[in-house]
Amino acid sequence: MEKETTLLLIKPDIIKKNLIGKIISIIEENNIKIDKIKTHHLTTSQAKLFYKEHSEKIFFEELISFITSEKIVALVLSGKNVIEKIRILIGHTNLTKAEKNTIRANYATSLTENAVHASDSKSSAEREIKILFDKE
Ligand code: CMP
Repeated sequence: MEKETTLLLIKPDIIKKNLIGKIISIIEENNIKIDKIKTHHLTTSQAKLFYKEHSEKIFFEELISFITSEKIVALVLSGKNVIEKIRILIGHTNLTKAEKNTIRANYATSLTENAVHASDSKSSAEREIKILFDKE
């Protein structure tokens, strides 16, 4: 299988709780390579573009308000099958459904404050990496 690239966001709840290192350790312990990493405070328009597929959902305003409430850490990860690998490690979006010992099972506190985001496909990864890393 060819090498893939994906985007992971460490969300404001983790930044506020000083737990960035815990998430990075999990990535490295699972032999996933970090190609790029930066902190970034998303503007409201960047956040709305990033989450545009959810723009009609009832939770959209809450999601945008939360994701822009503090900095995030954006990471470009690479490796074989990394899109699926990281999605398994982070667990289900809803922490009550997240499998034991996944990042969300251990660190999420609600559907909104759910610790991390990872791209769900190659095309999402390309689009999301552009939003976070394009002007470099
Ligand atoms: P994420 O993987 O970042 O992708 C979209 C986000 O929307 C998701 O994580 C959750 O934080 C949030 N989300 C999804 N479903 C709901 C919901 N029903 N209520 C509130 N937030 C949600």
